[in-house]
Amino acid sequence: MRYILLLLTASVADAVHSVSVVSTNAYTCNAVSGIDIAFSPDKKKITANFPPIKLTVEAPAHGYPGGNSTVGCGGTVEFEDWAGGVRFAISDVTWHTGKLNLTKNNLLHSLRAKVEMAVEHETNTYPLHYPMIKDYSSATLLDVDINPALTNYQGIFEASAKNPRLYWSTCFNGYLANTTKITFTLGGSSSGGGTSEPGWSMDLGLVWESCYAPNETVWGQKVIKGWESCTYRETNATIKRSKALYPMLD
Ligand SMILES: *[C@@H]1O[C@H](CO)[C@@H](O)[C@H](O)[C@H]1NC(C)=O
Ligand SMILES: *[C@@H]1O[C@H](CO)[C@@H](O)[C@H](O)[C@H]1NC(C)=O
Ligand SMILES: *[C@@H]1O[C@H](CO)[C@@H](O)[C@H](O)[C@H]1NC(C)=O
Ligand SMILES: *[C@@H]1O[C@H](CO)[C@@H](O)[C@H](O)[C@H]1NC(C)=O
Ligand SMILES: *[C@@H]1O[C@H](CO)[C@@H](O)[C@H](O)[C@H]1NC(C)=O
Repeated sequence: MRYILLLLTASVADAVHSVSVVSTNAYTCNAVSGIDIAFSPDKKKITANFPPIKLTVEAPAHGYPGGNSTVGCGGTVEFEDWAGGVRFAISDVTWHTGKLNLTKNNLLHSLRAKVEMAVEHETNTYPLHYPMIKDYSSATLLDVDINPALTNYQGIFEASAKNPRLYWSTCFNGYLANTTKITFTLGGSSSGGGTSEPGWSMDLGLVWESCYAPNETVWGQKVIKGWESCTYRETNATIKRSKALYPMLD
């Protein structure tokens, strides 16, 4: 089974550890055993690698004729121990496909990448009592969908896109017991069929800057104050919290 590969070297994201990975789509991919997240040694890139996923032709179902092809996977990775006083944004994305087999009737018309960050802060840590109350904030750091218009092609394909809306992560304060979760989602679609071998990934170009760490909690596009530790309310639904699936790796 493959879990997380996280490269740790000197400088900014020095103290980053991943603690769990949770699939966001148990049906079309197995992110729990199939996502690798790795920072490049210089921290200018983070790679989300989905070794098992491949472009496959949709079967007909429920009156839907099928015949187009899709690939997709998402995984949420929980991190802790970020170095303090820094934040990052995603400047660009490069997709790498598995080896494609597109005939002249197949058209790869969409490659998608989405990265969302959520941070949770315990607000009643001292003295510790239950239920634990947290503040939750999240934001979309990247959300792009490009049309490579690729047809009649055999082989591995790469495409890149700039992030048109740079959005900074929270300014990390280095707290140990607060969690940072990042969800990486990759997708692709072709019309008229088309297949690939397994092995899709995306490289996310990162830019870093120093920032004012005490403002860590003043962040996010969506903010939920005071949700309880075991459940939280989002559009009035009760959602079970993801729990760590295995102990911290480092
Ligand atoms: C590519 O796909 C076409 C059409 O589905 C198929 O006939 C052909 O054998 C495939 N080629 C390879 C190398 O898999
Ligand atoms: C978690 O973050 C909050 C807000 O930044 C901070 O007050 C608290 O001390 C942190 N908790 C721990 C255990 O570090
Ligand atoms: C296949 O994709 C094409 C182009 O996106 C679309 O027009 C067509 O409706 C799709 N077919 C099915 C069965 O979804
Ligand atoms: C911290 O956040 C507050 C509230 O948004 C803002 O007024 C203040 O300027 C920020 N301080 C720094 C140093 O960024
Ligand atoms: C949540 O429930 C409250 C009270 O029942 C209601 O006023 C509100 O519109 C609901 N919000 C959503 C997003 O469904």
